Amino acid sequence: TETVIETLTIKTTKTAHSRLAETDKTDLPFGKYFTDHMFVADYIDGQWTNLEIVPYGPIEMSPAMSALHYGQTIFEGLKAYKQADGSVSVFRADKNFARLNKSAERMSMATLPEDIFMQGLAALIDIDRAWVPDIENYSLYIRPTMFATDPFLGVRPSLTYKFMILMSPSAPYYSKPLKVKIETKYTRSVDGGVGAAKTGGNYSMAMLPTTKAHEEGFDQLIWTDAKEHRYVEESGAANLMFVVDGKILTPEVRETILDGVTRDTVIQLAKSLGYEVEERRVEIKEVLEYAESGRLTEAFAVGTAATVTQIYEMNFEGKAYPLTDPASRTISTGIAKKLNDIRYGVTADEFGWNW
Ligand code: COI
Repeated sequence: TETVIETLTIKTTKTAHSRLAETDKTDLPFGKYFTDHMFVADYIDGQWTNLEIVPYGPIEMSPAMSALHYGQTIFEGLKAYKQADGSVSVFRADKNFARLNKSAERMSMATLPEDIFMQGLAALIDIDRAWVPDIENYSLYIRPTMFATDPFLGVRPSLTYKFMILMSPSAPYYSKPLKVKIETKYTRSVDGGVGAAKTGGNYSMAMLPTTKAHEEGFDQLIWTDAKEHRYVEESGAANLMFVVDGKILTPEVRETILDGVTRDTVIQLAKSLGYEVEERRVEIKEVLEYAESGRLTEAFAVGTAATVTQIYEMNFEGKAYPLTDPASRTISTGIAKKLNDIRYGVTADEFGWNW
């Protein structure tokens, strides 16, 4: 068989002034600095067109742009890593592409052809490859995003969209283990809602409860189900995992929980390392019991931005549940090490995740 891969024409305008030399590559807070270029494409008259790489910078928009008013906006997060051999590799881009279109469908938006995503991404990384950090745990965070651009105030799915890929050389999102509050008043997502879509509203609605938690001295929240506040779901903008009796326990993916790429990666790695993984609904009550009895030996958040971030204390309705010393956590740190070794090309990529 023969596969014909058509190469798309991407108009490229290089920046006249690279910001690379003036960027301090040892001080890269998550999402603060951007590379010299971005990829853009427009959906007009039922087709994706105007595929371009342009200098990173402001874009023009109508004040009536429907994404601003009604929130048809989705995004993805993935990372590229400088490999041990000096090349650059993107991690599991196919998964992020698939999820982008799943989010698009849920938000009644246009879907994107795979070749535009992949070739746009490859061309953009190629032109800005000097921006991929080579400090341990740093990476090039890649932010594809799509939003509705109709200049129209009627409430209906937009007929036009813009797709962009931005890239930000970044340190990990969290710099230290987290103290988290199990949230039982506010809720992140509901049955029949959009919790499984990576859409802006899921993040804006989390801001007030998260700010309140910060004011109470917590780093992050653990979200619970909307109906009964009985089950744990996610933590902040990441998935949630526990180690109980040596087994990995994690809330199963459902319509209220984002199908995390790092979550899936950690599950596959855990299984390959011989650990049992249980994916099911997880009750707050049982987690707290495991914490009190000592059966809970590890708790951590997993996400592309968060990578593997340890949780050192949980709080439920004013009662603190201190957990084991994060330095003692051999299972999650072992998995995180294997994950990093694959991502940075230190270990053979037996899963075919690097591209
Ligand atoms: C990611 O992990 O890529 C995320 O989307 C989290 C982000 C909102 C910082």
